[in-house]
Amino acid sequence: MFIATYNRWQLTETEEGSNFPAVTGTDPATGYDGEAERTAELRRRLEALAAEFPGFEVKEVPRKVLLNPGPATMSDNVRLAQLAPDICPRETEFADLMRGIRRDLVRVVHGDPDLHTAVPFCGSGTINMDVCLNSLLPPEKKILVLNNGAYSARGVDICRYYDLPHYVLDLPVDRPIDPDEVRIALQKYPDVGLVYTTHHETGTGVLNPVREIGALVRAAGAYFVVDTTASLAMLPLNLCEDPIDFVMSSAQKGLMAVTGLSFVIGRRDIIEASAGFPKRSYYCNLYRQYNYFETTGEMHFTPPVQAVYALRAAIDEYFAVGEEVRFARHQELAALARRELAALGFREMIAPEHQSGLVLAYLYPTDPNWSFTAVHDYCYERGFTIYPGKVAGLGCFRICTLGTLVPKDIENFAAVMKDALVATGVALPVTYA
Ligand SMILES: Cc1ncc(COP(=O)(O)O)c(C=O)c1O
Repeated sequence: MFIATYNRWQLTETEEGSNFPAVTGTDPATGYDGEAERTAELRRRLEALAAEFPGFEVKEVPRKVLLNPGPATMSDNVRLAQLAPDICPRETEFADLMRGIRRDLVRVVHGDPDLHTAVPFCGSGTINMDVCLNSLLPPEKKILVLNNGAYSARGVDICRYYDLPHYVLDLPVDRPIDPDEVRIALQKYPDVGLVYTTHHETGTGVLNPVREIGALVRAAGAYFVVDTTASLAMLPLNLCEDPIDFVMSSAQKGLMAVTGLSFVIGRRDIIEASAGFPKRSYYCNLYRQYNYFETTGEMHFTPPVQAVYALRAAIDEYFAVGEEVRFARHQELAALARRELAALGFREMIAPEHQSGLVLAYLYPTDPNWSFTAVHDYCYERGFTIYPGKVAGLGCFRICTLGTLVPKDIENFAAVMKDALVATGVALPVTYA
């Protein structure tokens, strides 16, 4: 099979016997072709070429601007990495690929390869939460969940589901966790062996002070597991300097690869000690998966092969661009989105000083014509995906800027959002009673 691609245009072979010269590549300057004129010219050329070679057809993979909190808009480079030759994942070549990915995931969070390790799983981000909570609780100890949002609340659900001995510190969802509350809880509950919380609460965009909390947890002699699904590779994390034992994420989040692969990164010594902890899951046990990787180089059960190739390409892109540039770009895009939505009159749910700068949560306007569904559908039909909020009892929606987006995407989105409001009869600027 031949496939010729340039950015999001592909020329594919539909019959045998053609000798079409392959064209592949992504614009190195932008990571994709965002210019309508150039894209139209490209299409014209590809169609002319296709006409010369019977049996080829031009297919478009439309580019979508995803403003939901992952999966993210990916680069064509990452998308195309999935077109790897078929391979049995039990081959040495694949184990080598996995080994490199595990090593580089530790590098993403500045871990020490002797002290830290990355353990990938086949699943969405929740699998990491499940794995850490069910695998890392020492005997006779309890978990303390610091809960100030939907994702920490999911941690509480997991504890309940497995009947794990645990305490919950319920805190306000519209601001970061107050370390003093954690100090008090740790004094009150000396049997805590594992503290669990979320770094960036994606439901609201609140960023928790995990370094301050981690210092308290270390002093109390407990393990500290942080759900960094929505911050890893987007905000600084340093496993050698930050008092955090385990972090986690999924390939489709900050690394902008595809869904299906998630990973826990953290301390080898704790994982090894956990071999003797109570077992609660056969498939989702951290030590079992780690041990299999360490002894065979392979994932214990069938890995998501194409997702692994995509993640390899995405990690290479991450290091090629550099973390500083990536971090700055996310902040810049979110700041632009904030300005654009403020110009339309939208009010943010969270005070700016409490935010991660990655997710913006907006209150629903009180205009009687406001309908999130109608506005969402209008934007979606034009290639922009916005996302509902995740705060019980509060009408809000979210704008997240984590993919391979450029400022023009945000400007284009703001124009479409404005049209959506006009088309659905919402007065501008939007109003709040
Ligand atoms: C903070 C956080 N934790 C965990 C998850 C995992 O969710 P899922 O299993 O849907 O990938 C997400 C997904 O958005 C998240 O933002």
